[in-house]
Amino acid sequence: MIVLGIETSCDETAAAVVTGEGRILADEILSQWDQHRPFGGIVPEIAARAHLEHIDTLIARAMEGAGIAYGELDGVAATGGPGLIGGVMVGVTTAKAIAMVHGLPFLAVNHLEGHALTVRLTDGVDFPYLLLLVSGGHCQLLSVDGVGAYRRLGTTLDDALGEAYDKTAKMLGLGFPGGPAVERWSRRGDARRFPLPRPLKGRPGCHFSFSGLKTAVRHTIDRLPPGPLGPSDVADVCASFQAAVEDVLEDRTANAIDAFQDLHGGPGTLVVAGGVAANEGVRARLARLAGDRGFKLVAPPPRLCTDNGVMIAWAGIERLRLGLTDGLDFRARPRWPLDPDAPPAAGAGVKA
Ligand code: KG4
Ligand code: ZN
Repeated sequence: MIVLGIETSCDETAAAVVTGEGRILADEILSQWDQHRPFGGIVPEIAARAHLEHIDTLIARAMEGAGIAYGELDGVAATGGPGLIGGVMVGVTTAKAIAMVHGLPFLAVNHLEGHALTVRLTDGVDFPYLLLLVSGGHCQLLSVDGVGAYRRLGTTLDDALGEAYDKTAKMLGLGFPGGPAVERWSRRGDARRFPLPRPLKGRPGCHFSFSGLKTAVRHTIDRLPPGPLGPSDVADVCASFQAAVEDVLEDRTANAIDAFQDLHGGPGTLVVAGGVAANEGVRARLARLAGDRGFKLVAPPPRLCTDNGVMIAWAGIERLRLGLTDGLDFRARPRWPLDPDAPPAAGAGVKA
């Protein structure tokens, strides 16, 4: 089985070709950071135009790199949502056109399912597993019971974790995207210098909240002497923020491990996925927690944590195997929860 996967839901245009045995034949990614950087964040209009401009070239390069003809594909998968709607439409329309011209099945993949299933490609993880999904738009804990079968244990009541990293970076003038920069600076900082809050730590349940932490970072910076921030100030804010994040993730995930065991019994696998899963401090802290609880931590390699086409091709393969193809009348979805039955979390904004 060979599937072409297309990702255009945010600020990366990506196309990949993956086989049913999990071989990555091509993996093309074009990041739009340079176009968004002057604005300090992603501008949806610019993103959609950039996807449109580059998607054909990227797909051609992926097909050429894989060394296969369109007729050799078994399906074409594209992110069908959730995401910035203009970008999602570019990917969906392109995939439908290829599917129609070559008489191939079309697969609309939930972007979050792409992140969720990546470890089955990289590490052959079996269902069920506990998933901490931490990206620029989402922060959730889920029991992954099968393809298309998710039970949400917790979600953010306000900001996503990647967003909190990006905003912290912006306040410190570290540029965009912020997560990798905050992580780099945090390594040389003193995490005890600024006592930042650990929102919801010690409380029951598995929800998250990061807006208070973000505000505390703002106040911390405002209280520093006027003038440009020195390198040690920047490093200490980053280290203090990183420590707060790790404490919160450990606390919330510990509760989710209990909830997962209530559902499935015995220890199992803890998976961390999404852009923030590229963070080494986060991975190390979760590995320790998992070890203490008899769980095994599995995280995709950093390149497959942030957005990519491979995860969309792979989720397409998983769906194609189950006969879960989509009609050409599929409409791009700005919102698409993995667990549609989960009750709205109190105070949850649009991202839940
Ligand atoms: O999964 P992703 O590529 O896109 C979304 O689906 O949102 O995640 C992007 C997010 C950004 O907020 C970025 O700052 C964050 O992941 N990120 C990181 C790291 N690498 C990327 N956050 C913390 N540490 C990192 N090393
Ligand atoms: Zn993502």
